[in-house]
Amino acid sequence: MQTSADYRIVKLANGTHSVHSLAHRETFHPVIGPVAEAEALYVKQLRLPEWMANHTGEFVIWDVGLGAAANVLTVLRATRDASCPLRIVSFDHTLAPLQFALENAASLGYFTDYEAAVQRLIADHNTSFADGNRRVNWELHLGDFPSLLTHRLTDSPTQPPPAPHAILFDAFSPAKNPAMWTQPLFANLFRFLDPARPCALPTYSRSTLLRVSLLLAGFYVGAGHATGEKEETTIAANTLDLISEPLDKKWLQRANNSTSAEPMWEPVYRQAPLTSETREKLRQHPQFQA
Ligand SMILES: C[S@@+](CC[C@H](N)C(=O)[O-])C[C@H]1O[C@@H](n2cnc3c(N)ncnc32)[C@H](O)[C@@H]1O
Repeated sequence: MQTSADYRIVKLANGTHSVHSLAHRETFHPVIGPVAEAEALYVKQLRLPEWMANHTGEFVIWDVGLGAAANVLTVLRATRDASCPLRIVSFDHTLAPLQFALENAASLGYFTDYEAAVQRLIADHNTSFADGNRRVNWELHLGDFPSLLTHRLTDSPTQPPPAPHAILFDAFSPAKNPAMWTQPLFANLFRFLDPARPCALPTYSRSTLLRVSLLLAGFYVGAGHATGEKEETTIAANTLDLISEPLDKKWLQRANNSTSAEPMWEPVYRQAPLTSETREKLRQHPQFQA
């Protein structure tokens, strides 16, 4: 298997390959592999081919944690028949996993047809290409995502990227990558959404503290589809219409009794029960008012 100082290609139990980060001691999409996980969590759950087929105007995807680009390339391949233009806005603070993955494209398998686009993205942080009948514009914002949300996206002289219809949220786990799972991060992210543009954010974690963070940020939150690794994940959205199984009052009761439910307010991993202030904010969330 190929190894660099920071990454390694690993063979998963089902025979597919994925990238392993030595620094974080985490494998990207560790159980069913990168393509199957992206298909379950994003393509099928959001019904992206159908959504794009019925969409007019540009469809916008924010890809948080570009990593080895398995999520983006799986979404591109699955939606190739769509004719609406697609804009992908990727975020990561390093290109190293993408470079490493591209060097190992043959074992990973999912780069086929997109090697040239990925090479241009790495070189110029921007690429535009024809993909089936549609035009794809793919841009990369290289930098610390929480800081980009608080400063650079809004302070930059150029326009911030357009509000997303879908967000692929794929950081390392909250215990190893707490800066990407704080409540302030989700509150800042929510401010970039357009209330008139329905937007869904699926992510692989089902942790109570993540769900509470999303609810307090303004999202509606539901149980997300199984992926093969997890029997349940999480889906958040700025409208209840995009959520088929919203968290209910029974979930709220369990959150009230949980020892790990209070959001991380700082980028330091810790587990704590809900404070009375958070409990009250949750109780007043429109999702639990019916
Ligand atoms: C699990 S990997 C993403 C895998 C990727 N979505 C794929 O399909 O291959 C998590 C990614 O989040 C990125 N990341 C972690 N912390 C970050 C931060 N503070 N700002 C931006 N990106 C970050 C890592 O560099 C890593 O590439």
